[in-house]
Amino acid sequence: MASPLSILLSLLFSYSLFFPLSSSASLGPVSLPLHRLSLAPHPEPFQRLAGLANASVLRASRLKNPKSAVHPTRAPLFPHSYGGYSLSLAFGTPPQNIPLLLDTGSQLTWIPCTTSYQCRRCASPANPAGPTAVFLPKSSSSARLIGCRNPKCSWIHSSELLSRCKDCPSTNNSSSSDCPVVCPPYVLIYGSGSTAGVLLSESLSLPGRTATDFAVGCSVYSDRQPAGGIAGFGRGSPSIPAQLGLKRFSYCLISRRFDDDAAESGSVVLDGARDSSADAVSFTPFLKNPSPSASGADLSAFSVYYYVGLRKITVGGKKVKIPSSMLVPGPDGSGGTIVDSGTTFTYMEPAVLEPVAAAFTDRLAGRLNRSTTVERLAGLRPCFALPAAVAAAKKLELPEMVLHFKGGAEMRLPLENYFAFAGESRKTAAVCLTVVSDSGVAGGPAIILGNFQQQNYYMVYDLERERLGFRRQSCIGS
Ligand SMILES: *[C@@H]1O[C@H](CO)[C@@H](O)[C@H](O)[C@H]1NC(C)=O
Ligand SMILES: *[C@@H]1O[C@H](CO)[C@@H](O)[C@H](O)[C@H]1NC(C)=O
Ligand SMILES: *[C@@H]1O[C@H](CO)[C@@H](O)[C@H](O)[C@H]1NC(C)=O
Ligand SMILES: *[C@@H]1O[C@H](CO)[C@@H](O)[C@H](O)[C@H]1NC(C)=O
Repeated sequence: MASPLSILLSLLFSYSLFFPLSSSASLGPVSLPLHRLSLAPHPEPFQRLAGLANASVLRASRLKNPKSAVHPTRAPLFPHSYGGYSLSLAFGTPPQNIPLLLDTGSQLTWIPCTTSYQCRRCASPANPAGPTAVFLPKSSSSARLIGCRNPKCSWIHSSELLSRCKDCPSTNNSSSSDCPVVCPPYVLIYGSGSTAGVLLSESLSLPGRTATDFAVGCSVYSDRQPAGGIAGFGRGSPSIPAQLGLKRFSYCLISRRFDDDAAESGSVVLDGARDSSADAVSFTPFLKNPSPSASGADLSAFSVYYYVGLRKITVGGKKVKIPSSMLVPGPDGSGGTIVDSGTTFTYMEPAVLEPVAAAFTDRLAGRLNRSTTVERLAGLRPCFALPAAVAAAKKLELPEMVLHFKGGAEMRLPLENYFAFAGESRKTAAVCLTVVSDSGVAGGPAIILGNFQQQNYYMVYDLERERLGFRRQSCIGS
């Protein structure tokens, strides 16, 4: 089998010089349906929870430790895609629809590209019987390779490389590693996954509008990635909001009860109307991202995230004691809270989760017993065993959890957004807090608000006013 690098190089050279470069246009309000990615079917409910918990922990370690990457950390890691939400975007002329994972934690959008696309240890496609949807640049009259002198090439390569190609005589057509004409391939390597390809300029067709000259990664090889591509909605020049010049975008994530129901979807809205207080949307300002100047450390990877000011967490009306260093991003980039559509279960560092778990255990003392057996099986904690009578009644009251944000906004989570029912039989029935932790990965955000906690919330990223808005609502068909 051909090596990924030789595929890349043959791809690069077969496209070299065939494509001229092109220009851009602006966009208006656009609404796109948002589908849940189907979950890989797990016969055991505990296993399913454990799979989601594992994926969330791996994702957290990637977001917290982007420097473990060997190459530029400008695309996300999805060791398992289950737990994500996908949207379909149409690239090329004529348009080809490609499913992409909605990801506010990364900035470069990339799509599986060419018939020779290889995806090892990747999630199975939404329709396991069907092929993975790949983009075919040869079938698009608007596909262009991005040139090495194009400033967009610096999104995936160092300025050192760009200065090298600037020094090449402009009349020299022969691409080589010394004198690249087109932007050299990207190879993005993460802790346990990767994707590689070339940067294209393409048309992105949205209802009623077309953005020409949209820079998108055309991946020919991936390892441990979702079945489709990634839609980068984070901060930074390559991101969809930046390339399209969006003033705001919003999404509404349908309940996971519709996991395998292709008929139901929420939506992503690009540049929708501005929300007013009359819309019952609560706002909290985005915090400034940790700045490298303060510490001299390279925190550029954290510049992609949306930081919010989580002030306190209450459980059953009582404030949980959390070290303040966890809640405020420090100059070294550790601590603070980000909101991420690509993480399933919310991540909390042990110093946050332990007091939160203790608060639930305290409040439930005498009513429910903790089950370490279930905790081990589900990869979550705390889990509480349900006595047969409670499980049969299918009715259960648990302490309310509220997230209190800077500016007074409160996220009063519905129970199904922070507890999951688990169990293989009535005898092993349990409830588990759907928050994950690890042994304490140093550095990076201390809290990552995942999509499980955002179900049936309208979430608006108001980039013009630098604030996050949210409102509880049913997301079906909205
Ligand atoms: C989760 O990860 C642990 C170790 O990291 C592993 O033992 C377990 O099998 C994984 N579970 C699932 C469902 O992937
Ligand atoms: C470079 O390419 C142009 C147009 O493709 C061609 O006209 C020119 O002869 C080429 N120059 C060299 C040195 O190959
Ligand atoms: C064109 O680039 C190649 C590869 O770096 C180099 O060997 C060659 O000398 C260059 N030609 C000119 C005319 O600069
Ligand atoms: C909790 O565990 C104790 C000791 O095993 C047991 O006596 C009690 O009935 C359990 N309580 C519930 C609510 O299951």
